[in-house]
Order: sequence, then structure tokens, then C-alpha cells
Amino acid sequence: MSELNKIALKIILSGKGILAADESTGTMTKRLDAVNVKSNEDNRLNFRNTLFTSESMRTCIGGVILYDETIRQSFGSKTIPEIISDSGALPGIKVDTGAKVLAGSTYEKITEGLDGLRERLKEYYKLGARFTKWRGVYSISDKFPSKLSIYSNAHALARYAALVQECDMVPIVEPEVLMDGNHSAKVCYEKTSEVIKKCFEELILNKVDLTGVILKPNMILDGNSATSKVSNDQIAKLTLKCLEESVPKEVPGVAFLSGGQSEIEATENLNLINKANKTKFIMTYSYGRALQQSALKYWSKDIEDTTGTQKVFNHRAKMCSLAAQGKWSKDLEIQS
Ligand code: 13P
Repeated sequence: MSELNKIALKIILSGKGILAADESTGTMTKRLDAVNVKSNEDNRLNFRNTLFTSESMRTCIGGVILYDETIRQSFGSKTIPEIISDSGALPGIKVDTGAKVLAGSTYEKITEGLDGLRERLKEYYKLGARFTKWRGVYSISDKFPSKLSIYSNAHALARYAALVQECDMVPIVEPEVLMDGNHSAKVCYEKTSEVIKKCFEELILNKVDLTGVILKPNMILDGNSATSKVSNDQIAKLTLKCLEESVPKEVPGVAFLSGGQSEIEATENLNLINKANKTKFIMTYSYGRALQQSALKYWSKDIEDTTGTQKVFNHRAKMCSLAAQGKWSKDLEIQS
């Protein structure tokens, strides 16, 4: 077993998943604005440190994805990566520099950040990171995603992943097909399959060790403005079909993004996926909003109430962990 494979498994085995706390300062400011909390360095640190010191970090979270600001911060005498490592989870880092309009298109995006990446990775490793994330983003419409966007983002994801493994870290490869639009789940299945297949074609071309990669895909959903919706069982079935057909067997696991689903939807769908999972892939979570939303709302009412906020976060993390084992049910959502 390679060292990279060991790291990947440590993050996603035993009902553990990933806390995506890597919102850029711009995105975090939007999240804090929405709950009427001022977005300054202290508040961003306080909320995140509250999550990182929760009990569920030991039992439900195998890795935390950080943003550049957070990986350099300390709380008390310890750095944030030390605080995360002390809980038994691994610190990770978002290394892309965001999605910009793709030349040759007026709408589609290409994710940037390859220039100088090798040097940045070395620094992040020294700061404690053991895995990384890069997100490619694709839209669905009658014209999109175009071949150009599918190819360009797959190429960037693969060059990123190869550089990350060279620095002894596990790359999370995140091709996110957005849920915006009125397309059907069937179209989402077709487009997502095309996107993921191209990513692996490029990863193989770039000699990436697939046993040391975690795929972070979207689930197969109807567009958020579609008039009719498939059942949750259908979502699970189509998601599994897509992954079984598109992901090489060497890949140890899949950690889904929540992508705008509510906390309960993201939990219920993950649970159904695991109940029906006949593949050899571990299927877990790498949720941002679906792990943090309720905790952020609670915290915003009294930012001194660490214990109360942690209780809300612990509950959500526990529900996700049960879903990652196919053991969740709606009755368990009622909090004592
Ligand atoms: P969401 O779960 O909120 O979609 O965030 C996951 C993520 O890391 C997006 O890049």
C-alpha cells in the first residue's frame, strides 16, 4: 500500500468524511453577511476554531480543507493545523486560485492556480497540510459544458494532481457540475459522466497514482429549477451508476460535495447511496454548507456560545457519518 493510499484511507475510512472549511474570504464574507456577523479575521477564525475543537472531530471528521488564511492562523499556543492534527484528523488546503472566464467562451469557467503551484505546495506541506483540493466548475445548458471546458478543466485538474503527489500529499479532484438550471437528472448523469471520464483520462496521462486520489463529485440531481424531480432513490441509483461507469477501480473513495442541497437532503442522499452501494469505492462526504449551515446560524446568535455551537455541529457531523455507513434515518434528526 502506498503512503498516499494510506493518507487517503485515513481521511475517508470508518464513517469519517471531510469538513470543507475552505471558503475564500469573499465567500466566507457572504456566509457571515447572511447571518449578520461582521466578516473580520477574528470572527472567521473564531467560528472555524469552534468547529475544529468539537468532539465530533475525533469521531466523524477525517480531514479538514482549509483556506490560505486559516492554515496560517493560530489559536492560543497552537497553530490551526496542530489543533486539527491533535483531534486525529488531517489538515488539507485548497490550492486553486478560483475560476475565471475561459478564453474563447463568454460564460464558462477555467480554474486557475497552476503557476508557482509547486513552490506553494512545498510551503503548505511545511505548514502541516497532507492533502489538497482543486475545484473545476461546469454548468449545464443546451450548449454547456462545452468540449473546451471539459477538456481544459480536466487538464488543469490532472496537472494539479500530479504536482500534489510529487509533494507527498493526496489531491482531492473536484469536478463540480453545478445544479443551476432546469435540466433533468438524466442530463446531469450524462454530463457528469462525460466530465469525470475526461478527468480520469487526463489523470492517467499525467501519471497520477489513482490509489492516492480522492474524487469529490456532485451527486446526480435534477437542476434546481426543474419542474419535476426524481426520487431520492433515483438520485442514489443514478449517482452510483455514473461513478461505477466513470471511475477507475484503483481509486479508494469518493467524497461528495453538497453543492446547495439542504443539510437533510445531502444526508439522506448519501445514506441511500451507501445503502445501495455495490461498488468497492468508499462513499462519504466532503461537505461545506451541509456540515456548517446550522452551526453557523446558531453561532451567529451568540458568538460566545462555543458549547451550544459545537453541539449543533456534532449532531450534523454524526448524522453525516451515519449516512456514510448507510445507518442514518430521519428519526435520528430529532435532537435531544
Ligand atoms: P459545499 O458542500 O457547500 O458544496 O462545499 C463543498 C466544497 O468544497 C465546494 O468546493
